[in-house]
Amino acid sequence: MAHLIAPSMLSADFGNLQRDTELINQSRADWFHVDIMDGVFVPNISFGFPVLKCLNKHAQKPLDVHLMIVQPERYIKEFKDAGASVLTVHIEASTHLHRSLNQIRKEGMKAGVALNPHSPVHLLEDIITDCDLICLMSVNPGFGGQSFIEHTYEKIRQLKSLILQKNSTCLIEIDGGVTLQNAPSLLEAGADVLVAGNTVFGAEHPLLVIEQLKACSPAHTKGR
Ligand code: DX5
Ligand code: ZN
Repeated sequence: MAHLIAPSMLSADFGNLQRDTELINQSRADWFHVDIMDGVFVPNISFGFPVLKCLNKHAQKPLDVHLMIVQPERYIKEFKDAGASVLTVHIEASTHLHRSLNQIRKEGMKAGVALNPHSPVHLLEDIITDCDLICLMSVNPGFGGQSFIEHTYEKIRQLKSLILQKNSTCLIEIDGGVTLQNAPSLLEAGADVLVAGNTVFGAEHPLLVIEQLKACSPAHTKGR
């Protein structure tokens, strides 16, 4: 499968959200990555349903919604109604993860699980067949524009082997610090979806950068 690119709207210009949404519509990006933060699970607050609904009104590609909130199970139906196609909850924020993932699927969305940098991949052993996407955080969640954590490469390889071992069809998404420089190595390690905020919206020509991210092929570098 060709890899997917999901620009993170956290780095968009909120004063020109419709303009930036149209820009992604016109680009070769596959999904909109939408970060919801509650100021409790992460030390930042982003935006909630009114903004998400506006985004959904103009977006012509699936919304990949990343919940950085405590007790995400409280809002599964609301996020479906607000337009989410993929709904990702954090393993660290979910006491009854299996139930939450089933609810997400029952609402007709793809069910994702996100892992903070400190959470080991083996925590997914008994849940991997119940999800459609694993989001490996390659920065500590809460802010755009942070530096990529190198240990993520090892986690991608571990996750890829777990997915193969369990015959899962789960996608591997990498979120945080993705650049044109590290994208080929991430693909080589096994990434399927690359989230990019600052790399896209911080660029002079976002459409070109998306094009370049989409055109990346796996680097054949061994030993990373
Ligand atoms: C961080 C968010 C990311 C963030 C990525 O908490 O989950 O999606 O927007 O931004 P960059 O690509 O700038 O690291
Ligand atoms: Zn995110």
